[in-house]
Amino acid sequence: MSTTLFNLQNEHIAHLQRAYSGILTDHGFDSLAIYSGHASEHFADDHAPPFQAYGHFMHWVGLADVQHSWLVIQPGERPQLYLHAPADFWHLPTQLPDEPWVEAFDVHLCSSKIGSSKIGSDKTALPLSGNAAIIGDIERLPTNTLQALKAEYQPERLVQALDELRLYKTPYEIACIREANRLAIAGHQATQAAFIGAAGELDIQLAYLAASRQRESNVPYQNIIGLNEHAGVLHYQHYDLQPPKQRYSLLVDAGRRFRGYCADITRTYAGPDAPAAFGELVNALHGVKDGLVKGVAPGVNFLALHEQMHHHLGEILVANDLFKGTPEQAVVEGVTRAFCPHGLGHSLGLQVHDVAGLRHPDGTPAPAPEQHPALRLTRTLRPGMVVTIEPGLYFINMLLAPLRNTALPINWRLVDQLSVCGGIRIEDNVAVTESGFANLTP
Ligand code: GLY
Ligand code: MN
Ligand code: MN
Repeated sequence: MSTTLFNLQNEHIAHLQRAYSGILTDHGFDSLAIYSGHASEHFADDHAPPFQAYGHFMHWVGLADVQHSWLVIQPGERPQLYLHAPADFWHLPTQLPDEPWVEAFDVHLCSSKIGSSKIGSDKTALPLSGNAAIIGDIERLPTNTLQALKAEYQPERLVQALDELRLYKTPYEIACIREANRLAIAGHQATQAAFIGAAGELDIQLAYLAASRQRESNVPYQNIIGLNEHAGVLHYQHYDLQPPKQRYSLLVDAGRRFRGYCADITRTYAGPDAPAAFGELVNALHGVKDGLVKGVAPGVNFLALHEQMHHHLGEILVANDLFKGTPEQAVVEGVTRAFCPHGLGHSLGLQVHDVAGLRHPDGTPAPAPEQHPALRLTRTLRPGMVVTIEPGLYFINMLLAPLRNTALPINWRLVDQLSVCGGIRIEDNVAVTESGFANLTP
């Protein structure tokens, strides 16, 4: 591990120790148990879907795949990690990384599951002292777990305070997201090469996984790899086995984890069979993305930045002859929203759609406005936040059809010509700094 990451992780853990002590004291708790969670097996089967540990657990240990484990935090004490390590010759036991947090914790290897029916026996009880709280997905543990632990489950104000803490990334966390981006970009470069080589969706996905050095069960979200019309399906979830005859477009929205932290990057490419206008729109969207990234700074309201995106989309629709009115009219009449139904971006961290985006600092709700229901972040930007900036422009018939019967001056002939290309999204990951922004996507 580089000395920089080593030192940064030490500082990150010290920061969590201080912050948790303050938050637990403020909320009247003497101890906190955080459950990693565990995967449930498929019904009537002995296999489970891919798993992701609870975010507040990963905040300390950065292990996205640890299950059946607990972390106990008490102000002024060393963190206690109860790591599930069964005596099991079917699987390889969890290996602890060579990272500073391991030295800062007391690690207990547990052969049986804490919170299983054995709870209450000396071997499996958690040492919770005083007024205790438990957070995490324990609902699928045996019902006597909570009673045996004598703790308050999921205190709402406490969880909100911990969410708020996670919104502001330490330099260590920003370094991890930057590294996740570096690894993901290698995958994106491979997808572009595969597209030029006329690969189909499945082969583009496999090229991405190989070049970004990850197996499919480790991706932070299911990669979106859409050729042609599929580029216009916002969360397209299939991979066609065969390449299409015509290559109009490719949209790749694909990430990578590094020590739990996520990259979330999107690129769109015009293919050899695309109308020339599509390539120009892709270039224009890159320009919009770059401009909005430059708008990231402390004190900027993310909703205002989202509205700025709509203004730029209006300008693009007019400049590219898709709308024969003014940019303002395209925004006011809802035309830009029909071409881009999602938000400008979201908070990014241990979860791709990270916590606390729709709350005020004091925990009260800050919901998305009615006109922009899909916006996942309504906060004023502050140093330490990491957000995605992901403007998009799509030809989605379900959204555009209601506008066809209106007098709005939309160039339907061009829309119909471009609809085979599906759509465009360009997405970077950006940290808010003291003086402005740092783009973490190389
Ligand atoms: N990859 C999901 C998103 O961009 O929000
Ligand atoms: Mn994305
Ligand atoms: Mn995103």
